[in-house]
Order: sequence, then structure tokens, then C-alpha cells
Amino acid sequence: MKRLLLIGMGPGHPDYLTIQAIDAMKSVDVFFFLEKDGEGKDELIRIRREILERFLPERSYRVVTAPSPPREAEPGRYRDGVLDWYRRKAEIIAGLINDELADGESGAFLIWGDPTLYDGTLTIVRQILDEGLADFDYQVIPGITSLQLLAAKHRIPMNRIGEPIEVTTARRLAQTAPESIQNTFVMLDSNMTFEGLADSELTLYWGAYLGTDGEMLAAGPLKQIAGELAERARRAKADRGWLMDVYLLRKEQGGR
Ligand SMILES: C[S@@+](CC[C@H](N)C(=O)[O-])C[C@H]1O[C@@H](n2cnc3c(N)ncnc32)[C@H](O)[C@@H]1O
Repeated sequence: MKRLLLIGMGPGHPDYLTIQAIDAMKSVDVFFFLEKDGEGKDELIRIRREILERFLPERSYRVVTAPSPPREAEPGRYRDGVLDWYRRKAEIIAGLINDELADGESGAFLIWGDPTLYDGTLTIVRQILDEGLADFDYQVIPGITSLQLLAAKHRIPMNRIGEPIEVTTARRLAQTAPESIQNTFVMLDSNMTFEGLADSELTLYWGAYLGTDGEMLAAGPLKQIAGELAERARRAKADRGWLMDVYLLRKEQGGR
């Protein structure tokens, strides 16, 4: 039987790998890299290669790369666009497993952060098995998420006493009334969507490129910091060619 490992690599720095992840990497024959065109591509692949070089002996593994299909933006049909993208990715990943892994071998994807949080690979793997596109066993190795790293960097708990934690996307935030936000983490932005809530009473805890070179942090009342921060983030995005940020919007309760 072939085996596929989805290994959480943490949100950017090799120090964030768990011992379980490092042990799992040592058992891998082939690492698969899906290379995206455009934003941050080189840097994200470089970080993955750095992790392999740091933790594994040279030539103890193979690396197989394949182009990641682009996601076609279908205005007003976001879900259909993602499902179509998953389908094309499923075909590529099934091809890699069928062609590049021998029976008894283990293949792996190094998944940014944790494989269970806003990452499609697990869904795609289930789809491949359900549709019989390839046959293999699979395992998930958890990783530190960008949410945990953001909270640690700002030295704040993710929740306050008895309070729920909401995790959402910038796309959804843009349709959310600021009064309904209590404690909401926002992912998948990079377009400074928080600026649209700058009239609210919310506090922002923001981080970009966390754990990587050029890490940026900012915190404070959204009203006071949104404009200047958005400018700073835009400059960083222009200089670097991409921006990866995550943030918490919190309604303060008179004492943190
Ligand atoms: C496709 S999701 C993957 C999330 C990942 N699985 C996790 O556990 O954090 C990518 C989003 O995660 C957030 N993110 C991941 N790593 C980050 C980092 N090092 N710094 C800032 N944001 C990060 C950003 O919101 C980015 O748009």
C-alpha cells in the first residue's frame, strides 16, 4: 500500500515544526511540491526546501514538483470556482501518486500551518479516494497555525473568559456588520479589508509574514491605526510582490 502524509509545517519558520512532523518527514520517500505561479511562489517553495535541508540528510528523499493549476475567479460563483480548482488539483495529485510513488513508499505534502485550517488538500485527498483516482492510505500530522502564532506574538489569549472564537475570511468580513463582531480572526485577506471597518470601536491585532523575514506586527484601536497600517501593508506588498496577513478584530470589554 502507498502512504500519503499531510504534514503541518507551521506558518513559515522551521522552528515551528513539531517533533512529530520531523519524525514523519524522516519516513518520507518523496516530497511533492505544487508550484503556483505568481505571488510569493519562490519564497514559499524556498522555505519548504530549507525545512527539508535542515532536518533531513541529503539524498535521503526525492522531491517531485508539479505546476499548481491557477484558480479561475468566477464572479459571484466563488464556491463553484473553488470546487473546479479542487477537481483539477485532484487529477494532478492522483497523477503524482500513481506515477511517482512505488507500492510501499510514502509521499508527503508539507502543508503551510495546519492541514485542517483553510487548506483544501484534505478535501482533495478524500475526493481522489472516493472517485478511485488513486489508491493509498493517508495520515494528517498537525501543525502550528498562523492564528496561534499571531496570538503568541501579541501575547494575547485567543479567547476571553467563556467567549467563542470566530475564524472567517476577508471575503466574508467585507459583508459583516462591525457591531456583530466580538472576537473574530480574519484570514485570506492581503487587501486590507479591515480598513472598511475603521469607523468601528474594534481593536485590531495584525500580523504579516509571521515567522518569516520581514515579519510585521501592529495592534491598537482600528480607528487610530487602520489608515497608516493599510499604507504600510500596501508598501510591503508592492516591495515584496505579495502579502500574507492574519488578524484579530476584538470588541474590548473594559479590561482585556
Ligand atoms: C490558505 S490559508 C492557510 C492557513 C494555514 N493552514 C494555517 O494553519 O494557518 C493562508 C492564510 O493563512 C494566513 N497565514 C498563514 N501563514 C501566515 C503567516 N506566516 N503570516 C501571516 N498570515 C499567515 C493568512 O491569512 C493567509 O492568507
